[in-house]
Amino acid sequence: VKTESDIFYRPTIHFTPTIGFMNDPNGLVFDGTNFHLYYQYDPFAPYAGHVHWGHATSNDLLHWQDQPIAIPETKDGEAFTGCAVIDRTNASGLFENAQGGMAALYTRASSHRQAQYLAISHDNGQTFTEHAHNPVLDIGSNSFRDPQVIFHEPTKQWVMVVAKSRLHQIAFYASIDLAHWVHLSDFGPSGLFGVDYECPNLIEVPLEGGGRRWVLFVSVNPGGPTGGSITQYFVGEFDGTRFIPDDTVIGLTDFAKDAYAMQVYSNMPQDEAVSIAWLGNWQYCQELPTQSWRGAMTLPRTMTLKRDFAGWIRLAQTPRHIETLRGTAIPFATRRIAAGSSAQVALPPGTAIELAMSVTVDERPHDLPLGDKGRTGRFIIVFGNEQGETLTIGFDAFSGQLWLDRNDLKGFAQPFFTGQFSTVLNPDDRHFDIRVILDASTLEIFANGGLSVGTALIFPAGPLDFLRLEASGAAATVESLSLYPLKKTMPR
Ligand code: FRU
Repeated sequence: VKTESDIFYRPTIHFTPTIGFMNDPNGLVFDGTNFHLYYQYDPFAPYAGHVHWGHATSNDLLHWQDQPIAIPETKDGEAFTGCAVIDRTNASGLFENAQGGMAALYTRASSHRQAQYLAISHDNGQTFTEHAHNPVLDIGSNSFRDPQVIFHEPTKQWVMVVAKSRLHQIAFYASIDLAHWVHLSDFGPSGLFGVDYECPNLIEVPLEGGGRRWVLFVSVNPGGPTGGSITQYFVGEFDGTRFIPDDTVIGLTDFAKDAYAMQVYSNMPQDEAVSIAWLGNWQYCQELPTQSWRGAMTLPRTMTLKRDFAGWIRLAQTPRHIETLRGTAIPFATRRIAAGSSAQVALPPGTAIELAMSVTVDERPHDLPLGDKGRTGRFIIVFGNEQGETLTIGFDAFSGQLWLDRNDLKGFAQPFFTGQFSTVLNPDDRHFDIRVILDASTLEIFANGGLSVGTALIFPAGPLDFLRLEASGAAATVESLSLYPLKKTMPR
């Protein structure tokens, strides 16, 4: 049964399953013409279980075409998370001709065993045939999962990263044929504590200003600092055998709590680093207020490395090519907002919205006594409605921090569905830049050139139909502001 909430909360530009339950993205691969998005999918119920690989294809990562299930659950177990690679020269010898083809490596999971399976496709990723000698990697464990495979040019071999989940380790294996795997090294335990380490991904990411560094992403669940599921990353060097982090710093891909199991695209032209994460959290994903479908993906994100205010190399993420979805700009000419005042504009109904702005908050008036509540300047972005619901993103100029508050939305409550998150942009900087994408039950925030990213599910009881900008404590100058509806140009 499709309820009103099923329609109201369905994002318009984010990928969601028509029916059933979706979690991790899988097998993200570009085949030379199309992008493939496979995903953890129970087609029978809006709960996790009976996991198959769902499938969709796209030529821009934004307009998706649903495809039949690519890898089903079998008597060997559910088809858990994994990857897809293109063997362009049939280096593996698995294909009939020199053009090679697509192979998937993934975990088959039963109650007592998790092992890695290989399957190859003869129809460009529509269906997969299991390799004759599966599993191709089995260490007799029930917590060994989520292989991701890259082709490592310098050593001319395939390298797999895979989680020894309860040991908090990421294992590295090598292969020349994708079927026989030799253990190389283990990384960790390292990083956040938590319960399970999942979905490792290894990729070289361009560094702004030149060069590239290796980044190892590891998802942790539960145990994230914002509660439940979180994706952490380490920046370092991969020498073909082991991953050596540059330092002991743990990076987090998100300052909120709804971007998990992040996976990167393989076989990208120019080695562009692009990721998609599941826009969800295991703490409440099976109780969300939709009935016939649950689960969404983040927008595709381009990843780079940048130096932050202190000179540390950190991950920056920006939504990829969403400019192509922009409709006619919504006029909102606001240059200056006086302390204690605001400016408001109506939002068109039923469409995703992109707000991009760059703002500098005035220095606070020096004659205010310290400790006075007008001590600092705050700039506040409010999406709201007449029913009194507000979704707030605020910038505190005194400390250079940003907050996100979804607590005043009334459509969903659950003990773990906490509502307030914050991040530091640049200390002692009264200027900030931000890009916000609001799409039904999803919110993505990209601030400080993509160094601070916040991803959150949001459940307003009614449509958020206005945007209000407020200056409190000190006036603010809006250096630039653009506001667009975002729409697909082709129906699904
Ligand atoms: C991460 C995860 C993976 C597993 C999959 C099962 O969200 O738990 O470790 O392969 O989901 O659907």
